[in-house]
Amino acid sequence: MRTPFIAGNWKMHKTVAEGVELAAALKTSLADVSSMELAVCPPATAVAAVADVLKGSNIGVGTQNMHWEDQGAYTGEISPLMVKELAQYVIIGHSERRQYFGETDETVNRKLKAALHHGLTPIVCVGESLEQNEAGKTVPFVGSQIRGAFAGISAEEARRVVLAYEPIWAIGTGRTAMPEDANEIIKTAIRNVLTDLYDEETAQAIRVQYGGSVKPHNMAAFIVMPEIDGALVGGASLQAEAFTAIVRNALAAL
Ligand code: PGA
Repeated sequence: MRTPFIAGNWKMHKTVAEGVELAAALKTSLADVSSMELAVCPPATAVAAVADVLKGSNIGVGTQNMHWEDQGAYTGEISPLMVKELAQYVIIGHSERRQYFGETDETVNRKLKAALHHGLTPIVCVGESLEQNEAGKTVPFVGSQIRGAFAGISAEEARRVVLAYEPIWAIGTGRTAMPEDANEIIKTAIRNVLTDLYDEETAQAIRVQYGGSVKPHNMAAFIVMPEIDGALVGGASLQAEAFTAIVRNALAAL
């Protein structure tokens, strides 16, 4: 059985003070949740303070990116060792990083290997553009992202990876994939490819979140899908009430 997992990606929002306030509110409002894994991914500047607030709680902390090297002359980057000091999760290959910051399947693969090597839980994002979607290229494209991400990674390591299927056209647009479509894409472009790369058991062990305009009112429709194990939430994770409602609605639907 795959434990459901809902994570908030705060993106470039929240100062330290704002992040601490949000984390403190979530710590209280979600304190009773035990059947689901929860995490928030603040901007790097707020990770330490948020981790401090959430210490000993049922809400984990992650970063939104990291470099693959342990240290070095990489201005502006943070390393797995730095992440590990404060957080247990790391988002890798978010479409915004692929689109604006030159992230490729190769850098995703390097980062994924580094995250696994350092015992972090990676949340690896994949997803097609509107153009690819309309051209019917979703399944081969997402499949190639999966193959690229997992190159040289053992089955044992692969099981520790969390994937997020996030169609780019659904991110921040208020437009979601149809839950049935997302379910089918996860099945054909993700689990079938993982079965091909590893085996059925490994493919079934890996959790896959849906992401892209997840809100309180649509969470249930996604979480009831057999292939969808949770959500990566952007905009709606910035307010305690909305993120709490997403978690509650998912719990009620399971
Ligand atoms: P959104 O972002 O919920 O604001 O669409 C999701 C994401 O980018 O992870």
